[in-house]
Amino acid sequence: MKAIAPKDVSSKRPPLADTSTLRRRVRQPAGMSAVVFADTADSENVIATLNEALATELVCMLRYKRHQFMAASVSAAPVAAEFMAHALDEMSHADLLAGRIVELGGEPNFSPDGLAARSHAEYVEGDSLGSMIMENLIAERIAIESYREAIFCLGNQDPTTRRVLEEILAREAHHAENLTSLIEIMKDWRGSVTTLRATVCTPAHRPVAERSVSFASAP
Ligand SMILES: [Fe+2]
Repeated sequence: MKAIAPKDVSSKRPPLADTSTLRRRVRQPAGMSAVVFADTADSENVIATLNEALATELVCMLRYKRHQFMAASVSAAPVAAEFMAHALDEMSHADLLAGRIVELGGEPNFSPDGLAARSHAEYVEGDSLGSMIMENLIAERIAIESYREAIFCLGNQDPTTRRVLEEILAREAHHAENLTSLIEIMKDWRGSVTTLRATVCTPAHRPVAERSVSFASAP
């Protein structure tokens, strides 16, 4: 049988460092941290970006927590449950960002001083259920835009950070979808409580008790 010659793909493949270069690189001082040596982005800038994102997540978490309790106070338990789920997500995003900041050799900024100023999204209290949902949707859109921009700026320089940001971006887009659905449901709901109960309360992670609560105080 005639042996098949391997294809020459070298011209199509991006240039990779040879083994001796890789070994030399990790022995340099900058390569001795926990950071993967392939991450070549300017880590100071990346850490600053991640700290802005961290502040945004913390502000979003605080806003959702207020809205959760305010929604519950007007018997809008399905909306309160949605806000609570989002608040938990934002907290987990903050953990991811803080973890990555430390991996890059930085320090996560959890200081309440100047938190609102560091955040891209705003802390808006809202004066009705409708305005709370709308403010959260606006904040999600701000977060989505800022994550997209950060991912674009990062390019392929730091694949690990990029993966963290992409993971969070996907969740923020999901939050925005949830809130948009909630707005649509509330429009429909004015004529039908059943629709709201059936649609908003179906996700399995929500407590069964919350699936039958009426929407008595929607604006
Ligand atoms: Fe979110």
